[in-house]
Amino acid sequence: MNILVVGGGGREHAIIKKLKQNPDVQKIYALPGNGGIAADAQCVNIGAKDIDGIVDFAVKNAIDYAVVAPDDPLVLGAVDALESKGIACFGPRANAAIIEGSKAFAKNLMKKYGIPTAKYEVFNDCDSALKYLDTAPVPTVIKADGLALGKGVIIANSKDEAKAAVKSMMQDKAFGKSGDCIVIEEFLTGPEVSVLAFTDGKTVVPMVSSMDHKRALDGDMGLNTGGMGTVAPNPYYTKEVASECMQKIFLPTIKAMNSEGRTFKGCLYFGLMITEDGPKVIEYNCRFGDPETQVVLPLLKTDLLTIMRAVTEGRLDSVNVEFEDAHACCVIMASKGYPSHYEKGFEISIPDELLNKVYVAGAAKDGDRLITNGGRVLGVTEISDTLASAIDKAYADVRKISFENAYYRKDIGKRAICATEGK
Ligand code: AMP
Ligand code: GLY
Repeated sequence: MNILVVGGGGREHAIIKKLKQNPDVQKIYALPGNGGIAADAQCVNIGAKDIDGIVDFAVKNAIDYAVVAPDDPLVLGAVDALESKGIACFGPRANAAIIEGSKAFAKNLMKKYGIPTAKYEVFNDCDSALKYLDTAPVPTVIKADGLALGKGVIIANSKDEAKAAVKSMMQDKAFGKSGDCIVIEEFLTGPEVSVLAFTDGKTVVPMVSSMDHKRALDGDMGLNTGGMGTVAPNPYYTKEVASECMQKIFLPTIKAMNSEGRTFKGCLYFGLMITEDGPKVIEYNCRFGDPETQVVLPLLKTDLLTIMRAVTEGRLDSVNVEFEDAHACCVIMASKGYPSHYEKGFEISIPDELLNKVYVAGAAKDGDRLITNGGRVLGVTEISDTLASAIDKAYADVRKISFENAYYRKDIGKRAICATEGK
């Protein structure tokens, strides 16, 4: 089989490494991939948002199956476009990807179908939003409606901060059109859990839970990033919480999407907060998370392509999806300064024995050399019987990888360890 994977980050590298394990896979193309992914797939310089380019490439290269991983092409209709040429795909169509593409859509869906989430209001004009803030409690959460590279959420600790956030989104267009509409919502507290789930619109199969570390600095300080590391499973996601989530969130969401005529097929990401009133949805993503995928897929025992094709063909109930009974930890090595300004172009050195544990995100080829080319450069994942030893092993690996200006958090998994010890 010839497979095409759209995207070029650590998540896509993890997906490609897993797909390669299927003996029927002859060739994998990554569009655009990156310098590190080039070791596992043929990278083609077509951008993930170039829908016409992707379809044209797929048709000309006899692609049998396409996996569309990032949010942008999904929301832009890459799956619809590929399917119209008869190419089977993993990922939701645009009318279902809207669950991530519009926060107002997601919030209204949850309200209509009684799915637990923070209370909220949607605003299409700046004046009414500002007026509402006069009486809204603080902290308050301001969210741009559309995609904003994971930066469209501002937690404001005062009315002034909240008003400044609204103005930057709606008047100054900090996130372009994504901020034409905003959601203002109640601030919730509690541990966060990421649950990625396979679904074919009928059956929903949650994968092993995980915990992201979104802030740039140790102790959850500093700016929000795409994610600085992950562990799986997440200790806050107990059996009781899992069963409550299935009944009150996962199944109702799948049903709600069907009722709206927007059947979701692919990987649905539930960003959850375990509040005192039970689990609530913080966000939906229409795709695998990054870097959650880098801990979840290494723990997957079942063949990934088999599951994906069952999702596409609407027979997920026929596959027994199994995960290792183990712990995984992924530490992201970034360029110093990320998520703000950082330099690129430094040579990356990775010992050969670590290559199968490294997922490359922001790197390019310069002749034979691999050089840094992004904020999040790579992630290293280790699996072990205990969380503590997975963390120790991941950090031991990190110390063997080098590039100038490398930065990584030193406390990935620390909160999870405290939770396990009941602290
Ligand atoms: P999102 O991009 O929607 O995942 O939001 C980014 C981060 O903002 C989340 O991971 C949470 O830590 C935080 N956040 C979002 N919504 C809320 C909320 N209603 N209450 C508290 N924190 C939130
Ligand atoms: N790690 C968060 C995300 O993928 O959106």
